[in-house]
Amino acid sequence: MSKYIGLDLGTSSLKAILIDEDQTVLAEHTVPLSVQRPHDGWSEQDAASWESAASDALQALRQKNDCSGVAGMGLAGHMHGATLIDDADSPLRPCMLWNDTRSARQAAAMDADPRFREITGNIVFPGFTAPKVDWVRENEPETFDKIAKVLLPKDYLRMYLTGEHVSEMSDAAGTAWLDTGARDWSDDLLAACHLSRDRMPRLVEGSQMSGHLRDKLAVQWDLPGMVVAGGAGDNAAAAIGAGVVRDGTAFLSLGTSGVLFAANDGYRPDPATAVHTFCHAVPGTWHQMGVILAATDALQWLSRLTGKSAAELTGDLGDLRAPGRTLFLPYLGGERTPHNDAAMRGQFLHLDHATDAREAARAVLEGVAFAFADSRDALAATGTTIERALAMGGGTKSDYWLRTIATALNITLDLPEAGDYGAALGAARLGMMAATGAGMEIASQPPIARSVAPDTALVAAFADQHERYRAAYSLLKDH
Ligand code: XUL
Repeated sequence: MSKYIGLDLGTSSLKAILIDEDQTVLAEHTVPLSVQRPHDGWSEQDAASWESAASDALQALRQKNDCSGVAGMGLAGHMHGATLIDDADSPLRPCMLWNDTRSARQAAAMDADPRFREITGNIVFPGFTAPKVDWVRENEPETFDKIAKVLLPKDYLRMYLTGEHVSEMSDAAGTAWLDTGARDWSDDLLAACHLSRDRMPRLVEGSQMSGHLRDKLAVQWDLPGMVVAGGAGDNAAAAIGAGVVRDGTAFLSLGTSGVLFAANDGYRPDPATAVHTFCHAVPGTWHQMGVILAATDALQWLSRLTGKSAAELTGDLGDLRAPGRTLFLPYLGGERTPHNDAAMRGQFLHLDHATDAREAARAVLEGVAFAFADSRDALAATGTTIERALAMGGGTKSDYWLRTIATALNITLDLPEAGDYGAALGAARLGMMAATGAGMEIASQPPIARSVAPDTALVAAFADQHERYRAAYSLLKDH
């Protein structure tokens, strides 16, 4: 029986899973990773730490389970990072990550050139790859001159595993250099950044083969002939893991940051909405997502402030009630969708003598729900309507929060049964597709444990509060 491996290079850890051809998870292993923040707004990771984490995770998988017969592997990873390598394939500097904001000025300058939105289908957000490389050109010109290839983080790992310089469509779409509709690098946009195609990796689809495990590692790990698939950026990979591939399917991720993700069978860009429009990981498909930067992060902030754990704060809220007057805007580190506003910060409004930690917690949960509602509206403005979504991520432990979000968005949330349906499973599924020629039919949706419907008696009250929330942003955005 063949087996498949998925590797997910996350920001705080690398996770490896081993599945069999029935997609039963046989083993998994996680290795922690750290982020360096040497200056305000900088966020970096050492590419060498990814190599040792991948090597440790694969050795651990082999100790936990028999890894003979592994036919394919897929890679997933955090998006937008700039990993710059020289002509000996060595990193020239630490990788600048997706949440590194030092290149906000370069991003704004690129975004002002209409070709970027027209060709990529997206705003050039400060976190994307192209403005970071432009920052290096301006500030570290001797490094820029030595760049042989610009690789995304998981594609650096692929180079270590296979020796190949390859990326795939879903991650490449987050660089600001991809013609997202044509699924190819844009020579014009590369030229606008003093680059050219020869400094970019070759492109494959996520479900296609990108290479084989290199001989030395194949012998060392006893994984002969293993195919390595293109894989996907972490959100597209999570969608493959959760079976969100067909047009009209969606997931809502309530993690550190929040994502409302919709699969599309066509290319439907609308950059003005600040919705991200990227290629999906299987040919002929795309996806859109609204990205909110602080979801459970906002609750964690309140938890630090009050000294109460997130579980304590959410635990005693009782039945869902209409929103109170207290309002919270969760923009602790700025916002992507729908505002593209790196300068905005969080706000509490309408505090009175009776406001206690319980009311503050309710306002925080509601604020994050309204941020998701803004993303739902931004997606609707592009023509993508969402009626139900799989709900995933740590925040789904709070039933009150789920009911708040379902009611604020007026959609039904489906909760998968306990299990592993994330980016590592998506990567393993892409490895299976590349090794066997299977298509997206193997990316099924997980069994649903229960569904949370909107509270119809409260939908109108939540819609009113959403209006107040939007008005508060408009009023405060320039202060
Ligand atoms: C997506 C994004 C994050 C990163 C890190 O646009 O910035 O999801 O991929 O997880």
